[in-house]
Amino acid sequence: MGKNHIQEKGAMYLCRMIWKKQTKGEIKERIFNALDANRNYDSDYILGIPGTYLDTAQFHRDAHFLEDAPFLRTFINNPNHIGCHTLTGDEGEDMFRGTQKIEVELIRLISEEIFKAEAKSVDGYVAPGGTEANIQALWIYRNYFKAEYGAKLNEIAVLFSEDSHYSFYKGANLLSINAISVSVDEHKRSISEDDLKTKLAEAKAKGIKYLIGIANMSTTMFGSVDDVDFLADAFEEYNLPYKIHVDGAFGGFIYPFTNPDSKLHFANPRINSITVDAHKMLMAPYGTGVFLIRKGWMHYAATTEAKYVQGLDYTMVGSRSGAQAISIWMILMTHGPQGWANTMLKLIQETDKLCEALDQLGIEYFRNPHLNIVSMNAKQVPAGIPEKYRLVSNDFEGEPRWWKIVVMQHTLGKVVDTFISDMRAALA
Ligand SMILES: Cc1ncc(COP(=O)(O)O)c(C=O)c1O
Repeated sequence: MGKNHIQEKGAMYLCRMIWKKQTKGEIKERIFNALDANRNYDSDYILGIPGTYLDTAQFHRDAHFLEDAPFLRTFINNPNHIGCHTLTGDEGEDMFRGTQKIEVELIRLISEEIFKAEAKSVDGYVAPGGTEANIQALWIYRNYFKAEYGAKLNEIAVLFSEDSHYSFYKGANLLSINAISVSVDEHKRSISEDDLKTKLAEAKAKGIKYLIGIANMSTTMFGSVDDVDFLADAFEEYNLPYKIHVDGAFGGFIYPFTNPDSKLHFANPRINSITVDAHKMLMAPYGTGVFLIRKGWMHYAATTEAKYVQGLDYTMVGSRSGAQAISIWMILMTHGPQGWANTMLKLIQETDKLCEALDQLGIEYFRNPHLNIVSMNAKQVPAGIPEKYRLVSNDFEGEPRWWKIVVMQHTLGKVVDTFISDMRAALA
């Protein structure tokens, strides 16, 4: 994949209304203005809100570097972004509207300019991580099936491939709904049509009437991507009402940039909600999952008893730091759309280089060409290599079948090159 390819692919992200590359000075000004627009524990008389004014003995306000560190200043200001601000707008909590507006802009940027949603057609919030964002989706759909169809808990199931993240088991357990795992082809890692049909027939026979389908925009272990239409067609064939959630926790900030033909976005009417994690490929601090759902759905997760919160609460998390949203916004604005596309395409080039070396060495592996994960046949990986490079096994408790590599910014060049030469030496 040459330079022209990068330019050509990246070019599709040039025309964006919200997402524009900004200078360090512009970013700083925007964040500091937002903090000024928040109410401030230092300068305002705030008696009612017990919101946390960070301990002054530990978190010094007068540190000089804070003047040049918008994220840290936001962190120390500690704005609470409780609630869902795309939904409540100016009716939400009034204390921190300055930084909440940036979160609203961020949700619009991600949903509209990465995931092709119509303007202002998506609600969302910055969640603690991909686990919560996935469970938030299950929670909303469970309540939807209960409210609109009178569904009983044992009539609802979440269905996903065996390569899916364990958060779906966790969510099914918390919400007392069924979890159905469907096997995948050993080599292609695609959902098995035979097993899908078997599981759907068994589910119907067991009395399951409503499905929450999960489409992975890359699985954790393999980087495999599910075919949404294949899933939706099967649910329709079995006449089961369904909603589809995309788990893009891993791939959400890479796959849309490296595969222009991706079908995992809001222009696809079969997709209703998406999880993306900024604390994975976007390299943001932990606590930066993002939950996105079409408008008209958040209310299924309303906690109407949260009456002391202006605008109520629609999220699982409750109080959450506004600094997390700011960190995501800052990273996106620092790179700009073209810069980010180029950064992701460089990872693909590096992964291509790694795969060429593995081909030469005769190592069997799985890799989606648009992703930066390579899972190697564990039997062919020489002893000592997994420990030295801290590779991830599909099963740390049993016999590993696969060893996984994730090519990331910090592994570009030296780490990948040394790995390749160590593999060559060990196999020689
Ligand atoms: C595909 C996928 N979904 C969900 C998650 C959960 O994300 P988190 O650890 O941020 O809760 C992960 C984490 O690795 C993941 O890879």
